[in-house]
Amino acid sequence: MPKKKQKEFQSPKGMRDLLPQDWGFWYKLIKTGEDLAQDYGFQKIETPILEDADLFVRGTGATTDIVSKQMYFVKTAGGANLALRPEGTPGVVRAYMENGMASLPQPIKLFYYGPMFRYEQPQAGRWRQLYQFGLEVFGDSGAVLDAQIIQFCFHLFRSVGLKKINIHINSLGCPQCRPSYRKALLDYYRHRKDKVCPDCKRRIKENPLRLLDCKEEKCQPIKAQAPAMVDHLCDECRKHFKEVLEFLDELEIPYFLNSSLVRGLDYYTKTIFEIFWDGEDAPQIALGGGGRYDNLVKELGGRPTPAVGVGLGLDRIVDLMKKEQVKISVGPNFKVFLVQLGAMGKKKGLKLFEKLHQAGILAAESMSRDSIKAQMKLADKYGVKFALILGQQEALDNTVIIRDMQSGVQETVPQDKVVDELKKRFKK
Ligand code: HAM
Repeated sequence: MPKKKQKEFQSPKGMRDLLPQDWGFWYKLIKTGEDLAQDYGFQKIETPILEDADLFVRGTGATTDIVSKQMYFVKTAGGANLALRPEGTPGVVRAYMENGMASLPQPIKLFYYGPMFRYEQPQAGRWRQLYQFGLEVFGDSGAVLDAQIIQFCFHLFRSVGLKKINIHINSLGCPQCRPSYRKALLDYYRHRKDKVCPDCKRRIKENPLRLLDCKEEKCQPIKAQAPAMVDHLCDECRKHFKEVLEFLDELEIPYFLNSSLVRGLDYYTKTIFEIFWDGEDAPQIALGGGGRYDNLVKELGGRPTPAVGVGLGLDRIVDLMKKEQVKISVGPNFKVFLVQLGAMGKKKGLKLFEKLHQAGILAAESMSRDSIKAQMKLADKYGVKFALILGQQEALDNTVIIRDMQSGVQETVPQDKVVDELKKRFKK
């Protein structure tokens, strides 16, 4: 009987391995984000990757693409209906309510990062397992916080070497003023129903605000003339939006007022924004987006609590960092190379490695190699100033040879003096 060919495993469609050669970019981005978030007064939160599926149905919105088309559902053996989180906000809202954060002094400022899952058609910059860095602020309705979130994004992009970003901003109003805008938009589109694409015909019935999101060529002239939400804002929403823009002006953060920006999630009120790359041949791919969601906590069962936040697409930002050849430090900055020979040298070598590490002297090594030639070649490659050689004799005498890699001069020193000796030499 012919032998059955063994199945070759591959990562699931739209998901990939983040490999060591790219880790420098990821590390720089996450570390910069984490440090900056803490400098801005945010605290880290980590929520489960799985949540009750209804949290997203009620939070993100049942008719959004994210929930109606892109969610991964998991039925547990116990019968619970969970979903792999498609975005971070509803989980953080749940955590805020569940852990009594509403009774702490407000605002509560939280940050997080991690994988999200969306069953989308994969393409450049679009993954089914994507990574986001997010900020959420609860318990403060001030426009200054909307501006601070945008300021954070602006600052973060600059800090990782990406200067050419474009911030699109709009206001979606609130439940008081949005219905009158929706009506104006519907009146406008109903008269032009025959001229729009089939998707827009559907949007007229199901979700009029998404009409503004249409990318079809033939709908563009109609969209350009459509009524704008900013002209329909109530006094409070207009004042809030004006204040956000004034803060951005004060911070000298450039922005673009985009009256067709609507965002694809249901919970937003007032300010919404999206961040795009402004480089040459840049496709209109959003690097991040966010806004205010003053009703979500209440809608999910909490007390009325204003909130604002952002989600940044780490995959897309890393792609750009690579494209723009952002400088990253590759790996640790090794100061010495530890060469060991023979069984005794290896044993003592491990101990010495630990001692050097404790003293803050980063040592490269290759414990799996036995030949001195191969190890010296590596020491050369790492470009370290000194090699420490620990052979059978040195192991017995409790000594180690310090070799100056440039001059080739060697000196034998007691093992318990090697840290001091090295520090002296580094000072010179
Ligand atoms: P979002 O606009 O759905 O917002 O996603 C934020 C960012 O995640 C996008 O701008 C994009 O950079 C990235 N992203 C989304 N889908 C994909 C994908 N399939 N592949 C790669 N990157 C992707 C949110 O998720 C909200 N939770 C943001 C927020 C937080 N609003 C308030 N607080």
